[in-house]
Amino acid sequence: MTSPDPDLNTSAPAPFQDWTAVILAAGRGTRMRSSLPKVLHPVAGLPMIRHVANAAREAGFGRIVLVLSPDAEGIAEAAGPDVVVAIQSEPLGTGHAALAAQQAAEGSSHIAIMNGDLPLLTADTLLETATTHLETKALLSFVTANLDDPTGYGRVLRSHDRVQAIVEETEADEETRATPEINVGIYAARADWLWSALNSLMPSPSGELYLTDIVADAANSGGDIATHELPDATEVQQVNDRIELATAEMMMRDRVREQLMLSGVTLVDPATTYIDAGVEVGEDTTILPGVHLLGSTTIGSGCRIGPSAVLRDSTVGDRTEIGSSTIEGSRIGDDVSIGPYCHLRPETVIERDVHLGNYVELKASQIGEGTRIGHFSYVGDAKIGHAVNIGAGTVTANYDGVQKHRTEIGDGAFIGVNSVLIAPVVVGTGASTGAGSVVTHDVPPGAQVLGVPARIRSNEGDRTGAE
Ligand code: UD1
Ligand code: CA
Repeated sequence: MTSPDPDLNTSAPAPFQDWTAVILAAGRGTRMRSSLPKVLHPVAGLPMIRHVANAAREAGFGRIVLVLSPDAEGIAEAAGPDVVVAIQSEPLGTGHAALAAQQAAEGSSHIAIMNGDLPLLTADTLLETATTHLETKALLSFVTANLDDPTGYGRVLRSHDRVQAIVEETEADEETRATPEINVGIYAARADWLWSALNSLMPSPSGELYLTDIVADAANSGGDIATHELPDATEVQQVNDRIELATAEMMMRDRVREQLMLSGVTLVDPATTYIDAGVEVGEDTTILPGVHLLGSTTIGSGCRIGPSAVLRDSTVGDRTEIGSSTIEGSRIGDDVSIGPYCHLRPETVIERDVHLGNYVELKASQIGEGTRIGHFSYVGDAKIGHAVNIGAGTVTANYDGVQKHRTEIGDGAFIGVNSVLIAPVVVGTGASTGAGSVVTHDVPPGAQVLGVPARIRSNEGDRTGAE
C-alpha cells in the first residue's frame, strides 16, 4: 500500500486524490415523517445531500461514493454528476451502509466516511480530519465536538484520555450520557483496515450494524485513535427530524449571510434577509429588509435591492435598483431601475438603463437599452427595442385562447397610454400609437396609428433614435 505524501497546505487538495469519500444516505429517515428522502430536504435552497457532496468535492477526494437504498430516487442527481452510487440492500445500520461502499471504493488508499445528514459540514473539516489522520498515523480518526446539550448523539467513551468506544445514546448509561464529547459522524481510516473492521462487525443490541463499533475494535486491538475536535459546533448539526431541519436551515442561512457581509455586501437587517447557498452578490450592494435571493441568483456590485423583493434564478448587473418586486428566471443589465411592484417572469431580458415603474408584468420578453415602461403594463412574448416609451396601461394581447403570439416594437417607438397590441404584431422603428389604440395590424416605421381598431393617421417618416 503506498502512503500519500501529506501536503499540509489545505489550499492544495491534491494529496487526497487517492482517498474515497463515502457518504451514507441509505437510512430510512423515519423521524422526518416525509415521503421525500431525508437527504433531499433543502437547506438554504440546496438539497442536504448536495451540501455534503460539495464539501467532499471541495476537499479534493479522488472519488465520492454515495450509499443509497435500492429505491432511492433523485438523490444521486441531487448530489452532483461525479458521484459513484453504491446500494445498501437493506437499512441494517451505518456499519452495514459503509460496507456497501467497499467495491465502489476499490483501489483507494484511504476512506473518509461521513453521514449524509450533516449539511453544515465543511471541506475544511474534512481536510483537517484527513490531514490529522495522516500526520498521527492513527488506525482510525474521527471528528468530535463538546456540546452543552449532547442529546441525540453517540458519546465518546474515554479511559485515561484514550478513546475506548462510541456509545449510542440509546445504549448509554447515565454516566456516559453525561459526557459532553460526542461523535459527529465523520471518520477517516486506511482502506484495508477499515474493510476488515467493518466485515467483522457484530450486530448491536438494536440489531443494526453500527459503524461506530469500529472504534472499540481499533481500541481493543491497541491501535491509535485520533480525534479531531470541531471548533465550530454548528457543523455538528445533524438532521433527524424537522425541528433539526429548521435549526440547520437557520445556521446555514447565518453562514451565507456572514460570508456575504464579510465580502462587502450590506445587509440592513440580516435576520429578515433570506439568501440561498450559492447566491453571489457583488461589493457595495445593499440588501434591504425582507429580501429573498433564491436559487442560482447573481447580483452585481453597487445595487440596491428591496425592501421585500424576491429574486429567483436571476442575474442582475451593477448599480441596478429593484424595489419590492418578484423576479424569476430573468437577466437584468446595469443601471436598471425596477419597481416597486413589478413581476418579471422567466426568460425576461432587460438591457442596461431600462426603467420599469410600478405594476409592470413582463414575461419572456426582451427590453432594449434605455426603454421605459413607467406604469401598470403587461408585456409578454415581446421584443422591445432601444429607447422605447411604453405608456401606462399598455397590454400585449399575446394569447388568442389557443396559441401565444409575439409582439415586436422597434427602436424609439412611442406607445400611447392604454394601447392594446394584438399579437402577432410589429410596431416599426419610431412609430407611435395614440392613447387607447387597439393595434390589430403591423405599424410601419415612423407611422402614427390611432383608434379602435387603430388606423394610420400620418406618416412622419423614420424617427429612429428619438427619445
Ligand atoms: C449516527 C451515529 C452517532 C452520531 C450521529 C451523528 C451510528 C450508529 N451512530 O447516529 O454516533 O453521533 O450519527 O450525526 O452511526 N444510514 C444508512 N443506512 C442505514 C442507516 C443509516 O445509509 O442503514 C445513513 C443515514 O441515511 C444517515 C447516516 O447514515 O445519513 C446516519 O444515520 P442516522 O440514522 O442519522 O444515525 P444517527 O442515529 O443520527
Ligand atoms: Ca443522524
